Amino acid sequence: MQLFSPLTVGRLTVPNRIFMAPLTRVRADEAHVAGDLIAEHYRQRAAAGLLIAEATMVSGEARAFGLEPGIYSEAHAAGWRRVTDAVHAAGGRIALQLWHPGRATHQDLNRGIQPVSSSDKPIRGGHIHTPSGKQPYPAPRALRTEEIPGIVELFRQGAERAAAAGFDLVEIHGAHGYLIDQFLRDGVNDRTDRYGGSLENRTRLLFEIVDAVVGVLGADRVGVRLSPAHGGNDMADTDPVALVRHVARGLQERGVAYLHLRHTQHDAPQDIALAQAVRAEFRGVLIRNGGFTRESGEDALRAGLADAIAYGMPFIANPDLVERFARNAPLNAVDMQTLYAPGAKGYNDYPVLAAAV
Ligand SMILES: Cc1cc2nc3c(=O)[nH]c(=O)nc-3n(C[C@H](O)[C@H](O)[C@H](O)COP(=O)(O)O)c2cc1C
Repeated sequence: MQLFSPLTVGRLTVPNRIFMAPLTRVRADEAHVAGDLIAEHYRQRAAAGLLIAEATMVSGEARAFGLEPGIYSEAHAAGWRRVTDAVHAAGGRIALQLWHPGRATHQDLNRGIQPVSSSDKPIRGGHIHTPSGKQPYPAPRALRTEEIPGIVELFRQGAERAAAAGFDLVEIHGAHGYLIDQFLRDGVNDRTDRYGGSLENRTRLLFEIVDAVVGVLGADRVGVRLSPAHGGNDMADTDPVALVRHVARGLQERGVAYLHLRHTQHDAPQDIALAQAVRAEFRGVLIRNGGFTRESGEDALRAGLADAIAYGMPFIANPDLVERFARNAPLNAVDMQTLYAPGAKGYNDYPVLAAAV
């Protein structure tokens, strides 16, 4: 199977194309430092071609879930160093996902600091868990033009700390309606400055961040995640294919290692069109994710419409997913109750297959 063939991803050569998708599991400590629990989680999954670690805050004012990890202090870098050391000792490779939630948070999670976004449009519907219970999303404050270099700098510093922490690559989180995506998509971005309006303007923040991160790590250690047609966090765009094509072209010019496309339904016509648009413009690695199985992942690779497949839920419940795919073995089911619960239960205690006899 092509899933088991090696692949060059920027500076890395990886032994298979079964990647672990980034998964927020809120197992850091009160200071948002990753520790032994998180190190053990990724160590167990080190056979993945590439582990893409969970969304990690680039700012101390960007908490959105609770005990999600950060990468905005030396203590954070030291915590993550334990994780990367554990993964490398187990023979694996790991990327860190750099993240800012933008409007998808609440001031009660951030010492009263109002969330920021491209515009002042709140997330309609849904709710956010805060220390005082579930609340509707608040209206964000539109970032002033002169504040944008400060956002870029947060990502640059995050990349520096990720490098110091021993990550092989970083992934810039441009998906799922978080801050970068709030600039990319015209359903939210109504700015009239040079960060809004045209595709060139809406993608400006992303490219400024990419350039800053590439300046730290080199383009061959940088990837970008996008979900141009995903509706979560009340997101919409009038032309997701044009958007992804424009971004793919810019990433090709910069020579980044990979573009990671998160699909809503990977075999829907629009999602196929997104993958084709990336293929037409981008010659780095195309990772696709969203509802893939062993078989549909293999089909996508054979069709030439992906270089690697990222698996989310399957990796939660199957630390030995690569081995299970190799043996075509059944998969454990995910325990939904422990997705965001504290501790090792439902995190580090999923069983592996008995050794083959
Ligand atoms: C519990 C959970 C946490 C997630 N956390 C993140 C995250 O931190 N960053 C991100 O880009 N996507 C995140 N996602 C989305 C997954 O990376 C992935 O796109 C999604 O699960 C679909 O892939 P799958 O069908 O293989 O599970 C999360 C999904 C789940 C279920």
